[in-house]
Amino acid sequence: MKPAVVVVGSFNQDLTWRCAEFPAPGETIVGEFKTGPGGKGSNQAVAAARAGAPTAFVGAFGDDSFGRDAQAFLRAEGITVHAARKKLPTGNAAILVNHRGQNQIVVALGANAALAPRDVPSTLLRSARVVVCQHETNLPLNAAVLRTARRAGVTTVLNPAPMRADFDARILAHTDVLIPNESEFVALIARPGFDEAALHALAPAALHSLCRSLGAPTVIVTLGARGCFVSEPSRHTFIPSYTGLKVIDTTGAGDAFVGGFAAGLVKFSGDQVAAAHFANAVAALSVTKFGTAPSMPARRTIDQFIRKHSHVARRPSA
Ligand code: RIB
Repeated sequence: MKPAVVVVGSFNQDLTWRCAEFPAPGETIVGEFKTGPGGKGSNQAVAAARAGAPTAFVGAFGDDSFGRDAQAFLRAEGITVHAARKKLPTGNAAILVNHRGQNQIVVALGANAALAPRDVPSTLLRSARVVVCQHETNLPLNAAVLRTARRAGVTTVLNPAPMRADFDARILAHTDVLIPNESEFVALIARPGFDEAALHALAPAALHSLCRSLGAPTVIVTLGARGCFVSEPSRHTFIPSYTGLKVIDTTGAGDAFVGGFAAGLVKFSGDQVAAAHFANAVAALSVTKFGTAPSMPARRTIDQFIRKHSHVARRPSA
């Protein structure tokens, strides 16, 4: 089947240590180790595919076992893989997860940073319904990818994670939907004194107006345990998160949301609020399991979860 969602992005081998508390600088602690497939782009592709969208992933890998295993994993998920082989190690990430499910991450981009426009088939971009990029490859490549897709009438989604010093806001001219988390939103607004606490204190109308100032037609701010805020040109909607879930590991929750949103756009024929509700459920389910890509829920699980929690009603804030 022709891929409806195309994710151009990173793969990282996640090397994860679970610990009671994060170590202080200079401290050594004992933890438990696991490794598995990760990387924001790959996680988003897995989330979209498991959520039911025919999905392609375009990424760069080293000629090493992490890279080979990654491609086999993605293909086994039913994802169409366009792999560029680079003379660099496959990306990897050192992740610490504490007993509250919070994380700290250091990423070595490796091959991801060398992904180039010639590695991305333009026919694949033009024939998609949704194209998704994040910040773990290289940013000029993202701009070229989103420009090509948008000119072909494809919905473009940019997840500016992690925020980078070389971010060029001109990419927003090629972005239909911008999905930052709280810290990325604060960095995008870049106003003295505007921090996450100030963001949380904003009334919905004021947050909507800040979102409008960024220039992307739709801005969705993911607010962690609070939920998410969808700012479209003529309305804004707050979607609360699900409560009462046992949080095991929040790593990759943002990726679950972005991949779930892309799949939701396909499922709900471009209805962004419906897609955000769907994404909210995908993200909620992902934190109840350990790991990143392996924690992405299947379509059936998502549908059952949404039916069970149908009391989490839509709450328009305008
Ligand atoms: O968003 C989670 C991801 O961030 C991890 O899988 C890790 O690889 C880093 O890219």
